[in-house]
Amino acid sequence: MTQDELKQAVARVARDYVADRLPVGGILGVGTGSTANFFIDEIAKIRDRIGGTVASSEATARRLQGHGIRVLDLNDVDAMGIYVDGADEIDASMAMIKGGGGALTREKIVAAVAETFVCICDASKRVPVMGRFPLPVEVIPMSRAHVGRELEKLGGTPKLREGFVTDNGNLILDVHGLSIIDPVGLEDHINQIVGVVTNGLFARRGADVLLLAAPQGVETYTR
Ligand code: 5RP
Repeated sequence: MTQDELKQAVARVARDYVADRLPVGGILGVGTGSTANFFIDEIAKIRDRIGGTVASSEATARRLQGHGIRVLDLNDVDAMGIYVDGADEIDASMAMIKGGGGALTREKIVAAVAETFVCICDASKRVPVMGRFPLPVEVIPMSRAHVGRELEKLGGTPKLREGFVTDNGNLILDVHGLSIIDPVGLEDHINQIVGVVTNGLFARRGADVLLLAAPQGVETYTR
C-alpha cells in the first residue's frame, strides 16, 4: 500500500468513528494536512449528521466549504465532541509533534476545546522518541532572531520556514536536532520564551485516540 492509500484507509475509519460517536447535529473539529484532507472528503458523505465544523486552518475551511459542510467560528461554539487531525510524529504516551503544515496554533486551540482528540496517521508517524521531525515553533515576526537564539540554547538548530506566513500572520522556526525525552517539559519551556506564540508539541493535550494505518489494517489505541 502507498502512503496515500494508508491515509485514505485511516480517513475512512475516522469517518465511521465520527458517525458512531458524534451525536447527530454535534460539532466536529477538523485538522489540517494531507491526512485531514482525505478525512474531509470522507465526512462529506455523512455531512447531514454533522451540525457544524470548526476548521484548524483557512485551507481546511475552504475544503470543508467546497463540500458544502458548514464551518463555524470557534467563538460561537460551546462544546465540541470530537477533533480529528493528523500528526507528524506520535509517541507511546500519545504526545505528538504537529505543525508540519504550519497550522499548529489553531490546531492547539481547537484541540483544547474538544472533548476527544482523535489522531489519524500512518504507521510511519509512530516513534519511540520524538524529534527526528523538526519541531515547528510559531513566532511573532519581530522576535524571530531572539527566539532562534533561545532555541539554540536548548540544543536545537532553528531554521526559518522560508516564504511561509501562518494564518495568524506569523513565522515558523523549524527546530532540527532535538531528541525529545521530556515532551511536556519542553513544550512548557519553549512556550515561555517571549515572542513564541506556541510550539508544535502536543504533550499537555495529547491524543485521546490514535487510529494508526498499517498495511495489515487500521489499529486503534486509546490513552
Ligand atoms: C498541520 C499538521 C498535520 O497534522 C501534520 O503536519 C501531518 O500532516 P500530513 O497528514 O500531511 O502528514 O500538524 O499543521
